[in-house]
Amino acid sequence: STEQGVRYRQPIVCVLGHVDHGKTTVLDAIRGTSVAQKEAGGITQRIGATDIDAETIERSARALLKGAKLKVPGLLFIDTPGHVAFSNMRARGGALADIAVLVIDINEGLMPQTVESINILKKFRTPFIVAANKIDLIPLFTPVRDVSFIECLKKQRKEYVEELDRRIYELVSALYGQGFQSERYDRITDFTRTVAIVPVSGKLHIGMPDLLMMLAGLAQRYLENDIRLRTDETRGTVIEVKREEGTGVTLDTVIYQGVLRAGDEIALNTRDGPAVTRVRGMLINTHGRKKGLREVESVQAAAGVRVLISDKLDVIPGTPMIVVRGDRDKIFEEIIKESSVS
Ligand code: GTP
Ligand code: MG
Ligand code: NA
Repeated sequence: STEQGVRYRQPIVCVLGHVDHGKTTVLDAIRGTSVAQKEAGGITQRIGATDIDAETIERSARALLKGAKLKVPGLLFIDTPGHVAFSNMRARGGALADIAVLVIDINEGLMPQTVESINILKKFRTPFIVAANKIDLIPLFTPVRDVSFIECLKKQRKEYVEELDRRIYELVSALYGQGFQSERYDRITDFTRTVAIVPVSGKLHIGMPDLLMMLAGLAQRYLENDIRLRTDETRGTVIEVKREEGTGVTLDTVIYQGVLRAGDEIALNTRDGPAVTRVRGMLINTHGRKKGLREVESVQAAAGVRVLISDKLDVIPGTPMIVVRGDRDKIFEEIIKESSVS
């Protein structure tokens, strides 16, 4: 997407929160899939990237956007695990994020990994919104589905709306205790000072238009410089490393800057120090009608991509990945410096 010649990449949106508060279900509702049901024990164990294009966001949030056009070409969502055991993956996702969605079960409020997530967001100064999930479990809920929160509200009884608000203000008070002003999104007048709370039900697909609209707005407000499309350098982060007999080593990566091509030389951190290897192949995950893994020749930031390398390198998960186009020693220095930060 262009505006006065400036092009933007998709902002990277990290989804964080306590275990089982509904991160994957909310993402399923956004992308029209059902990953959450297929997970072993219902627990997310890895980071996954999902691309939602601007057209899909505009279609979903049409009534709320009132004809406004998005400057960003879409959003790249990163799902993270909420289980206590996966704090390194949460931190990795948090470090990558331009903006974030903090998912909180409105019936449970702030839990230990909610607070841990908030601390990650504070550390990286990541702007975020709150998805107050599972609003369908509040007593006296009148069933609706596939609607915006605003439409949902119109169908609810007065007693339900009062109870919803009571729980939202409990959340507001708990978030205040963590250092944040917050408010139900449709009551906010100053978005620069207030964290938006969007009531949703991932299960019944309620509030997704509102969530997407608030995220697109947040992205455009805060990130215009950070998400300018750059092609001079290619950078990413390795989020997972798999060694498989026969195929060699595969790296699940998120590319946040530039273009990665098959055959590119990439610098990475390994347990034996920084090393250079070649991209042998790339696979992307596609959703919608043609879903599955698809081989590609190149990807442009921001994108989640599985990279096949030919060397049997002992790559460290979380390492930066930089395409080698100039001075190798300088890139190695950078890899070492960046690796020690996170
Ligand atoms: P981890 O990734 O393991 O941390 O969990 P998660 O945050 O991704 O939660 P997940 O999407 O796996 O949902 C946990 C449980 O909550 C599942 O049984 C979901 O069906 C249920 N759930 C999620 N969202 C809603 C909702 O809006 N309403 C109701 N009633 N249940 C929900
Ligand atoms: Mg999950
Ligand atoms: Na879960």
